[in-house]
Amino acid sequence: MQKILITGASGFVGGFLVNDAINRGLEVYAAVRKSSNLQNLKDDRINFIFIDFEDKESLKEIFFKNNFDLIIHNAGLTKTPIKEQYFNVNATYLENMVEALIESNTIPSKFTFISSLAAYGPAEYTTNGLLTEDSEPHPVTNYGRSKLQAERYLKSKSEINYTIIRPTAVYGPREKDLFKVYDLINKGIELTVGFTDQKLTFIYVKDLVRVILDSTLDSRKNVAYFVSDLEIYSSTLYNELIRKALGRKRSFKLRLPIPLVKILGFIAEKAGKLTGSYPALNIEKVNELEAKSWNCDSKNLIEDLNFKPTYKLSDGLEESIAWYRKHNWLK
Ligand SMILES: NC(=O)c1ccc[n+]([C@@H]2O[C@H](COP(=O)([O-])OP(=O)(O)OC[C@H]3O[C@@H](n4cnc5c(N)ncnc54)[C@H](OP(=O)(O)O)[C@@H]3O)[C@@H](O)[C@H]2O)c1
Repeated sequence: MQKILITGASGFVGGFLVNDAINRGLEVYAAVRKSSNLQNLKDDRINFIFIDFEDKESLKEIFFKNNFDLIIHNAGLTKTPIKEQYFNVNATYLENMVEALIESNTIPSKFTFISSLAAYGPAEYTTNGLLTEDSEPHPVTNYGRSKLQAERYLKSKSEINYTIIRPTAVYGPREKDLFKVYDLINKGIELTVGFTDQKLTFIYVKDLVRVILDSTLDSRKNVAYFVSDLEIYSSTLYNELIRKALGRKRSFKLRLPIPLVKILGFIAEKAGKLTGSYPALNIEKVNELEAKSWNCDSKNLIEDLNFKPTYKLSDGLEESIAWYRKHNWLK
């Protein structure tokens, strides 16, 4: 049985990754923190492991003791007002892990890094409007820049057999940020930002984790995949699909000009600082909402892994919304 370490196991994607890995018969080690919420990690077959990514010596000890066959480094910081935290968690932690693997001579047969489409930034900066491996990265957030730094470091380490996964917006049961859009539409408001529709891409969490595990178990090495469901959706269509999945006939459609959204993001972030919270609408988020297109090329996913999404956006939204209803997130 192959031993796999999955970091960020307590998060939204991590919980689904752990389940899929167990179903594939892997011996799963879920890296969590003392403070992590473990309510979605109830399976007896999960081995828990507490990792301090700041401490390279303890990382070396853990790797030496466990000698993992496979590692999926999925832990990541997606929202913080502090720039340095993005770079510390998303880039330095990966660097510490890789150095500890090399120094303890316990390099796994595959090291999969969950990066993000944000590392490459919006597609309108590319020559043909499509993000590909050859595109010049143009991240518009510190989150994206920190993921790009981690990717560049990993690519520079010839000792490591890596796979880089760059998911677009991931949705599905238990997800908390896109949920706010469903909640608003459920209350009767369809909000769009800017006067031109954005071109959006999505991936359902179950399809994403299948890709992550397929590529981790695949013998190809040093490859990177942009992951979406292979479709492009306008922001208007996205809202409409959510409204339909919610079973609402109509709603109030509100288009906010970008300068106004920037002001709202700025105010929300400043207010959050006073209350010690970090709002879903923040300055970084506005940079993403302002982007015209998140169109990405997943051709190599089809060629290498025979990828075919099982969920169209409408199906995934229906399944997610049924889950939110069942768990009383949505009335
Ligand atoms: N969701 C998306 O749309 C999306 C899109 C592209 C890429 N990604 C990437 O996919 C990965 C998983 O994202 P997610 O949506 O599942 O996020 P999430 O729900 O916020 O989960 C993040 C995970 O990372 C762990 N983590 C965060 N900071 C940490 C730290 N300082 N030390 C140790 N562990 C830490 C969290 O542990 P705790 O539970 O203890 O906080 C949690 O398990 C991330 O790398 C993210 O950047 C996500």
